[in-house]
Amino acid sequence: MKERVVYVCDRCGYESPKWFGRCPSCGAWNSAVEVKKSEKRGKSSPSSLMKLSQISVESDDRLRVGDSVIDSILGGGFVKGQVVLLGGEPGIGKSTLALQIANHLVENGKRVLYASGEESAKQIKIRASRINVSGDILVTNDQDIDSVLKSVNGMDFLVIDSVQTFYDSDVGSIPGGIAQIRSVTSKVVEFSKKSSVVSLIIGHITKSGDIAGPKIIEHIVDTVLYFEGERTTDYRLLRVYKNRFGPSGEVGIFEMREEGLLGIENPVFVGEDLPFGNAVACVVEGSHPLIVQIQALVSKSRVPSPRRNSVGVDHNRVSAIIATMSKILKLPLDFHDVYVKVLGGLRITDPAVDLAISAAVFSSLIEMDIGRTVFMGEVGLDGMVRPPYSLRRRLETLKKSGFDELAGNFEEATMRVRSLSNLSEVIK
Ligand SMILES: Nc1ncnc2c1ncn2[C@@H]1O[C@H](COP(=O)(O)OP(=O)(O)OP(=O)(O)O)[C@@H](O)[C@H]1O
Ligand SMILES: [Mg+2]
Repeated sequence: MKERVVYVCDRCGYESPKWFGRCPSCGAWNSAVEVKKSEKRGKSSPSSLMKLSQISVESDDRLRVGDSVIDSILGGGFVKGQVVLLGGEPGIGKSTLALQIANHLVENGKRVLYASGEESAKQIKIRASRINVSGDILVTNDQDIDSVLKSVNGMDFLVIDSVQTFYDSDVGSIPGGIAQIRSVTSKVVEFSKKSSVVSLIIGHITKSGDIAGPKIIEHIVDTVLYFEGERTTDYRLLRVYKNRFGPSGEVGIFEMREEGLLGIENPVFVGEDLPFGNAVACVVEGSHPLIVQIQALVSKSRVPSPRRNSVGVDHNRVSAIIATMSKILKLPLDFHDVYVKVLGGLRITDPAVDLAISAAVFSSLIEMDIGRTVFMGEVGLDGMVRPPYSLRRRLETLKKSGFDELAGNFEEATMRVRSLSNLSEVIK
């Protein structure tokens, strides 16, 4: 094996065999980082070939956690050799979740190494005591990825907390940059595939969607989980963003308690007071119906092209709804800035959220509150309202949570329902 040196831009990941003062790809100055790569010399020998029909897979190739929420969103537990990225904003609860998973596994007789570059063993112990984690989890503060991987050999599960704090000594830069994050992750992936150890890599993401975040390793890992929510509220959503070994799009819902994260069934993300500009929606994320609060602020614009801003829901969706409302309902929205927000730090992908967005926008425009009526339905560009899918499950959830007034285009007589097939009827 011969060592080859390449230069990697620590900003954008551009790679070149020659040193560069300014990155030809992103234009950053002094961002070149020296990375040593081992290279096989001479002719490669033929790859070893295996017949798929002769590879045996035992059911024991799944590593069940023993927590129903986590096992179910993973499609039945971890798969041996799987590498999972757990991303989320600072303070959201990533370390807590990792420690709880580690504890479940240790209680099932598995051997776990928790490698933390962020917290001392004492700090981990303090959290462990608070959330009643008692199992024998091994802990290290070593940040050299090669040493960590050597120590975890023969175990079942590895936590890297967080990828931004570990380093590969072959890379000549400090931890946290693109070159290090990518190299550390590649080493973990290579190791996991060879050894069958399951690795959980924690990565910080920031609200601004920092590029030096875990986004750059999404494609190298098998599974990507994102923890959503706001530090100021107790609910957390764990979303499967990608999964090579199970369904993606699934979510798990937790409540952050003093004693740790607790899986919950029917969360209601709606406050007590709903002044004008608020509307309630029932959306399905993964297989969970969620009752959420949508807020809109409509204010006179001082600029020629008014602002459209959205948090927690796709920007283009909101723009299309506003344009439809202007055109079909002849509302003066072209002269107003419109801000839309999903409360609780949630990100909604279900199109049935449209009707509640329309209702919140209208409510803010005319400054009239609309109470606790639940709006469900996708709004077409023609102003027609489509019924939501999984209606029965939504209705069950609403009933359990005490919401009994609905607006949307559907024919179910179980509650006080206003069946409305288009936007004009809704607004009336
Ligand atoms: N005593 C406590 N009671 C209730 N909740 C607590 C308590 N201490 C911490 N928490 C919760 O735990 C969260 C922090 O959890 P954790 O450290 O697992 O997050 P993290 O995502 O790993 O954060 P970091 O980005 O700092 O690594 C806090 O935001 C808070 O919600
Ligand atoms: Mg942490």
